[in-house]
Formats: sequence, C-alpha cells, structure tokens
Amino acid sequence: MTVSPTRDRELTYPPPYPDGWYRIAASEEIRPGDVRHVQCLGEQIALFRSKTDGRIGAVDAFCPHQGTNLAYGEVKGDRLQCPFHGWQLDADGRARSHPDAEDQPLVHRCWEAIDYYGMIMMYRSSGRVAEAPYRLPCQPNIDSRQLVYRGQYDAGEVDMHIIEFAENSVDFQHFSNIHRVMRIPWTGIKLPWIRIRHRPSWSLDDELGHVSYFGDEATLEIGGRVYERTRSRALITFLGPGSIVRFKFQIPRIGEIIMFQSHTPVEPLKQRVSFRWFAARRVPRILVSYVIGNWISQWRRDAAIWKSKIYRPCPPGTEEADPRRKMHQWYRQFYPDGPVANLSVSNDGG
Ligand code: FES
Ligand SMILES: [Fe+2]
Repeated sequence: MTVSPTRDRELTYPPPYPDGWYRIAASEEIRPGDVRHVQCLGEQIALFRSKTDGRIGAVDAFCPHQGTNLAYGEVKGDRLQCPFHGWQLDADGRARSHPDAEDQPLVHRCWEAIDYYGMIMMYRSSGRVAEAPYRLPCQPNIDSRQLVYRGQYDAGEVDMHIIEFAENSVDFQHFSNIHRVMRIPWTGIKLPWIRIRHRPSWSLDDELGHVSYFGDEATLEIGGRVYERTRSRALITFLGPGSIVRFKFQIPRIGEIIMFQSHTPVEPLKQRVSFRWFAARRVPRILVSYVIGNWISQWRRDAAIWKSKIYRPCPPGTEEADPRRKMHQWYRQFYPDGPVANLSVSNDGG
C-alpha cells in the first residue's frame, strides 16, 4: 500500500474536526429562497434560507427518504423541498412527507446555523444532537455602527490542521524568527531596515471556558532605533478551537479595527481561510488596509511553514516547560467525545 505524504502528515495530528462554530458561507451568498451544497467538516450539507423569516437551515444533504441531494431542491416558504418525491424539511430537520401533511415521519440530521456579522456560522458537534454549548458574542460597537464594515478577503484553501493556529498563539519563540521583519502589507516583500518588536502574551478567560486570548504589543524599530510612538496593540480572542477568531487592533488616538479570521476544514489538512473586518469611521481606509494587510502578510509566513510540517506533541520530558501544554489542556474540551490522539495531554486533561 502506498501512503500519500498528506496522509502521513494527517496521522500525526489530533482529529481534524474539533467541535465549534465554523464559517460555512458568506451571508450574502445565501439569499432568502436560495439553497446550496456545502462540503466541509466531513459532512455534506444542504444550506438554505427561509423565504418567510430569513432563517438559515443547515441539514444533512441527503434526503431521509431515499437519499436524494436536497441541495438540488427548492425552498418553499420556510422549508426545503426534495426534488424527488417532494418531502419537505424545516431548519430544525423536521420532515414532512407531503407539503400539507401534519405527519413528521422523522427528524433529519441538522446543525444550528446563524448569521454572524456577514458570515454564516454553523455549530459542528461530534455528537448527533447539535445544541451549541455556547453562543458567539455580540459586538456592541458594530451593532451600534460605531464600527462599520470595511472589507473581506478570501485566502482560499491552506494545507494545515486547524490546531496550528492555536499552537501559534502560545509559541512565542517563533515571533522573533518568523515575524520580526516588516513586509509590505499584502505582500511577502521584506523591508529589511524595519523590524518589529513583539511582546506576546496568552491567557484563558476566567469565566468562559471556550475562550482564550492572545495579545501582542508591536513596536517598530527602524535602523536600530525603537520608535515608541509606533506601539500598537492587538488582542486576539479565540472563540473556540480557532474556527473563528476575533482581532481587535487599537490604533492610538485614531480608533479601533475588528477583524474576524475563520478556518473551516474542508478536508483533514485543508482549511478554507477568510477574513472580514470592521473599523471606526474615522480610521482612514489606507490605514485599515495597512493594518489588515500587515497581519495577512505575517500570517502567510506561518502558513508557509504549516503546509508541509507534521505535528509533534510536546517531546517527553519537556512537557512542563513547553508552553503548548497548557494550550493543549484547554484545547482538549473541543473533543468531548472520547480519547484524543496525539495531543500531549491525557483525556482527563492532565
Ligand atoms: S428522496 Fe427525497 S422525497 Fe424521496
Ligand atoms: Fe505566527
């Protein structure tokens, strides 16, 4: 038997689909009455939007009756109708064998899905019942329109496991190696005379078990001199396993930018990555583009490493000193269904 290099890599990682909220489409892609087929997270999903109340439905794509692909069906009112014999399903997976029938022969497999600041987020659970154990937080300054939509960027598919992004947030050592050199935002072109000094930090939320924080204070060093006035802060909040991550960039004396970065596994080692951002009205467009583009250029440096590496848990004997260990203890919760291969913590979290 020949084993592909990708499969060899995959076997070194924890399972590919930790539980969490995942971006499965942009809200604007699914208008009322639309239906489309989405393949990700090891699932085939028929994603549709009700014509009556705009609610999103995410149901197993294969009809509970005889397995027809429901994504080729049609939305009727608030239900998705199968193109073969006309069974109808609502967003809670309740099936009817005829549009007027009151019978509910069964409840079809489905997932909770919501619109979240222009992204359709679906809660993926390893269990069959998909009640999300936590909600994604409101963003009051976007709701109040203090911050307004400024753009999005689809980075396509990246060959990596989703845990890499979380690992990155506790791996302070790589900052001085990978992220020290300034690059022209949105490109990989180095500006070798400008260096970035990082002061990273990582912590857990005191109350919300699924939340962790990565902070970075960055200051520019030009020609060997540190310019304190260039100091900027980024607070990065993991709202789960790295599937949706919120960045808050504070630009002194000007305002705030919020960016969401999402990772959605379409295959075990393939993530669809996208970015969507909002900014205070007074932040000039060029500055927003600089901040976002700078992050994306630095993120690409990590992605270039991730796409060919394997996963190594903390080497034996080094666990106590390895900053990843605490992160692994935190990450363990996203695999609630039993033993987790390859994480360097046991199933009781120790
Ligand atoms: S296969 Fe869908 S209604 Fe029969
Ligand atoms: Fe990094």
